[in-house]
Amino acid sequence: MWYKTAIFYELYPRAFMDSNADGVGDFKGLLSKIDHLVDLGVDCVWITPFYPSPLRDDGYDISDYFSVHPDLGTLEDLKAVIDRLHEYGIKVVADLVMNHTSDQHPWFIESRSSRDNPKRDWYVWSDSDQKYRGTRVIFIDTHDSNWTYDETTGQYYWHRFYDHQPDLNFDNPEVRAVMFEIMDFWLQLGLDGFRADAVPYLFEREGTNSENLKETHDFLKAIRAHIDKNWPGKILLAEANQWPKDTRAYFGDDDEFHMGFHFPVMPRLYMALKQKSRRSIVEIMEMTPEIPPGAQWCVFLRNHDELTLEMVTLEEREYMWEQYAPERRMRLNLGIRRRLAPLMDNDRSRIELLNAELFTLPGSPIIYYGDEIGMGDNIWLFDRNGVRTPMQWDDSPNAGFSAAAKTYEPVIDDEVFGYKKVNVQAQKADPDSLLNTLKHMIRVRKQYKAFGLGTFAFCLPDNDAVLAYMRAYENERLFCVFNLSDSEETAVFEMSEFVGKTPVNVLTGASLPVIQQANYSLTLAPYAYYWLRI
Ligand code: NOJ
Repeated sequence: MWYKTAIFYELYPRAFMDSNADGVGDFKGLLSKIDHLVDLGVDCVWITPFYPSPLRDDGYDISDYFSVHPDLGTLEDLKAVIDRLHEYGIKVVADLVMNHTSDQHPWFIESRSSRDNPKRDWYVWSDSDQKYRGTRVIFIDTHDSNWTYDETTGQYYWHRFYDHQPDLNFDNPEVRAVMFEIMDFWLQLGLDGFRADAVPYLFEREGTNSENLKETHDFLKAIRAHIDKNWPGKILLAEANQWPKDTRAYFGDDDEFHMGFHFPVMPRLYMALKQKSRRSIVEIMEMTPEIPPGAQWCVFLRNHDELTLEMVTLEEREYMWEQYAPERRMRLNLGIRRRLAPLMDNDRSRIELLNAELFTLPGSPIIYYGDEIGMGDNIWLFDRNGVRTPMQWDDSPNAGFSAAAKTYEPVIDDEVFGYKKVNVQAQKADPDSLLNTLKHMIRVRKQYKAFGLGTFAFCLPDNDAVLAYMRAYENERLFCVFNLSDSEETAVFEMSEFVGKTPVNVLTGASLPVIQQANYSLTLAPYAYYWLRI
């Protein structure tokens, strides 16, 4: 169960490193930068879609499941990346996009060509756009229906995302079967598993919201059974942007997903800072059910999408938008298309604080490429591209990412976050840089099993600007304390169990005063955090 103690890294291959000066990152480039991942200390890399695609949803619109996008290189180049990462003990997972294909996929081209084409039933067609009315639209900025009319055959096709991404019909056994072929193909090549995209939406049924249906879970269980039987040790990570109890269902009885992103806790980590109160974090974690012994959450601060506000209340969403996306351009669908560092006003103490929470909450943390150096964003770019700009390696032209005259999207070059200031090379050389601080946190985290495997319990002092929890595993006790406010805060903890013990800050090695009585008082500087071994 390597994934339970692993540090994950989400890597966007177009953005990482360009080896052939065409302005687009590629596998050979990535191969040349593996030392960065090794140095950072990550255990598993998730590479976002690298398949042939018209790239109208950045590769989540696949037009061939059995090959790689020519911009990125060849299958052999990818294999070289996987092999090299494996040499360093780093696992590799990739996206498995089952719900939909590109409208340029030959399956859909055939399907839409006539009503009696053998592939017709591979997609979801209807005479009416009134079917499945209970299903919400996800990309609300660009769509008001999940149906699009197709002139050729005079019917509508179903899509949960862009209208150029028709949904596959999972009621069709051939569609279900091809998913196994796709999985086998990539696992055979050496992948260690999949981040399975958009899993709640595979089936649709009248009278429901067409999410999290029993039929969907049954199919996903079949996939898991296939992995367990043929590919033991390989994993499935669910992208199910749902409330905790609904995501919990994707773990089954250790017979569905190994991992699932914890979507709802993410916006609350941000909200808690503005509210100077742990309330929303405590609330959502208390709503989070136990998960089976083989399962693990995956926790994150940011990813390649907008910071989603789907799993908050309407008031909370308004609040988050007001606080973190004051300009309309910063918003997208039900979210915020900004990166971590700009969301924190580039304030180092808050960036560190959020990471210190990320690395100690229950689950395996995932870092979004570029956030380890505090990269900025560009809200003027289309869709979510503003958080997918080239990795900033050094202060040379194009941030050392590419020797091309023009890159796929411009490198960030502003005053605060521009590559001349924010880059890997400079941060490597500076012992106090964000990069080195995060590297240190990762190293420390790896010394304690409690973070990946331990139990989790809140400690709730009266002062609710202070978030604190205990992680415990065998004889390890790690007491994690965070000041969510911009002023100095004191909190008194109930520590009768530990009287006589001396807490040691495992991040600095410093000892704190011995716990002399049940009530233990700590005073924390603004945004201070402690990981205390007791
Ligand atoms: C979720 C992915 O994270 C997102 O980038 C994509 O647009 C949708 N799924 C549709 O595939």
